[in-house]
Amino acid sequence: MTNRVTKAVLPVAGFGTRFLPATKSVPKEILPLVDRPLVQYAIDEARAAGIKEFIFVTSRGKSALEDYFDSAPELEQALLDGKKHHLIELLKQTNMGSGAVAYIRQQERRGLGHAVWCARRLIGDEPFAVILPDDVIDADTPCLQQMVEAYAETGGNMVAAMEVEHSRVSSYGILDVEDATAASMKVRGMVEKPQPEDAPSDMAVIGRYILSPQVLTNLDSMDTGAGGEIQLTDAIAAEIGRSNNVYGYRFKGRRFDCGSKSGYLQATVAFGMAREDLREEFEEFLRGYLQVDVPKPAMRAV
Ligand code: UTP
Repeated sequence: MTNRVTKAVLPVAGFGTRFLPATKSVPKEILPLVDRPLVQYAIDEARAAGIKEFIFVTSRGKSALEDYFDSAPELEQALLDGKKHHLIELLKQTNMGSGAVAYIRQQERRGLGHAVWCARRLIGDEPFAVILPDDVIDADTPCLQQMVEAYAETGGNMVAAMEVEHSRVSSYGILDVEDATAASMKVRGMVEKPQPEDAPSDMAVIGRYILSPQVLTNLDSMDTGAGGEIQLTDAIAAEIGRSNNVYGYRFKGRRFDCGSKSGYLQATVAFGMAREDLREEFEEFLRGYLQVDVPKPAMRAV
């Protein structure tokens, strides 16, 4: 088996309850950072890493996502008539090409592991990437590209890893690694959402993975783990010590948890400030806004 990774699974079947009521009708992955949906950042990152096929695991209410990657002839014609060529160029990034994107439904939300397992027939017998679009990573070299390069050396299974505050470990899969100073850290153990007192470290798994097809076979057993869900972490952990070792990859870059309101707001500020066309005005606003004597709108409780 080669270490070339050309397929990515994007599990997007969750309810996105932390963003209700918005996510009642808008998939979380379509929420924009400035003017690009979260999923566009994921696709751009995957393309930079050499991914050619994209498999979305969706659910009811996610049709806006499929429309986003479809052609929009009326809109394109209107832009053409209005000579808005720069906007036509902008739309090109949403073109996926025939056959490059597939949608599979997860009928029941049984957890991330189950969502990935739903894509098994489209993956076949080759290593594949998993991308959670609500983790947005700002990096000079896109995170998945860094991982694909490291994976070419290690093979096996690789998860993106970063240190988190000890009090936050119960929100993540946590790694027990042999050498925490290595870029590709050999994993001795993995535990999903441990209590801080039980966590083997503060090294958390975030939403980028490169996995061997054996992980899909491990998921066949449908064993449930933390929270009564079928956990991807458990199926990966089963590979530790086998020929398909597991590595935690300490990526270079800054990750924003856009699945949480606070992370999403932070990303909006960071990506807004990174935009040449917006920075000056936005920065001026932020500086003024943060001065204590500037009157603020009344706090609104939810
Ligand atoms: P989250 O735990 O963030 O859940 O799932 P969520 O539904 O997206 O958001 P909240 O917590 O209710 O606000 C992590 C990723 O796994 C996918 C989600 O779509 C998200 O990309 N997922 C989770 C599935 O595709 N299926 C599942 O059964 C569970």
